[in-house]
Amino acid sequence: MRSPGADARFPIAVLVSGSGTNLQAILDHIHDRDAITVVGVASSKPGVQALERAERAGVPAAVFEAAGYPDRAARDREMLGWLKEIGAELVVLAGFMELLTPGFLAAFPSRVINVHPALLPAFPGAHPVEDQLAHGVKVGGVTVHFVDEGVDSGPIILQEAVPISHLDGSEELLDRLHETEHELLPRAIRLIALGAVGFDADNPRVVHVDESVLSSSS
Ligand code: GAR
Repeated sequence: MRSPGADARFPIAVLVSGSGTNLQAILDHIHDRDAITVVGVASSKPGVQALERAERAGVPAAVFEAAGYPDRAARDREMLGWLKEIGAELVVLAGFMELLTPGFLAAFPSRVINVHPALLPAFPGAHPVEDQLAHGVKVGGVTVHFVDEGVDSGPIILQEAVPISHLDGSEELLDRLHETEHELLPRAIRLIALGAVGFDADNPRVVHVDESVLSSSS
């Protein structure tokens, strides 16, 4: 995987569908640092809070709502064109609640990552918080992973456990998972930008991460 080096730019785009608290963590903690620049925010929905966050940060934003296209592939083609135009080299799904088509993923090989509020492969899908509570698990967590064609099924980059109390409601649990996400997702992006993330030569499901680069970077 390419390392941008000390003074190269590492342009990233963030895909969103809702409130955008993960986008905000990226903007607050890594945007315009370590050569990382958020060059654009693409939303699958109009009028969401994430778009306001992008605007406040002065980051170009665009809406690609599937309903406005004949099919999802057409939407993804247009979104892909925009992302290439703005020069995105890494695509970060931060609460983007739709599957991407194979054509889109092929245009960014091993360059699309996602954050998910569960310890994958447990609890993939659209309701991981409720599903973890309903299952009565004692330990949940957060996963950052590469995106493949499945649902939350790509190779895992970082994971962190979060204890779950049976007294938690879904809102309290989501708040606690968000705290972990807001640290883990920016960390994963920094690690990729620093060239510290690579695939195992024998097993491409296994991702090697050299976290020691973080102590030597500013
Ligand atoms: C986050 O908890 C993210 O992990 C989740 O959506 C939320 C978006 O919050 N994504 C998924 O469940 C993807 N399968 P945000 O818009 O406030 O960042």
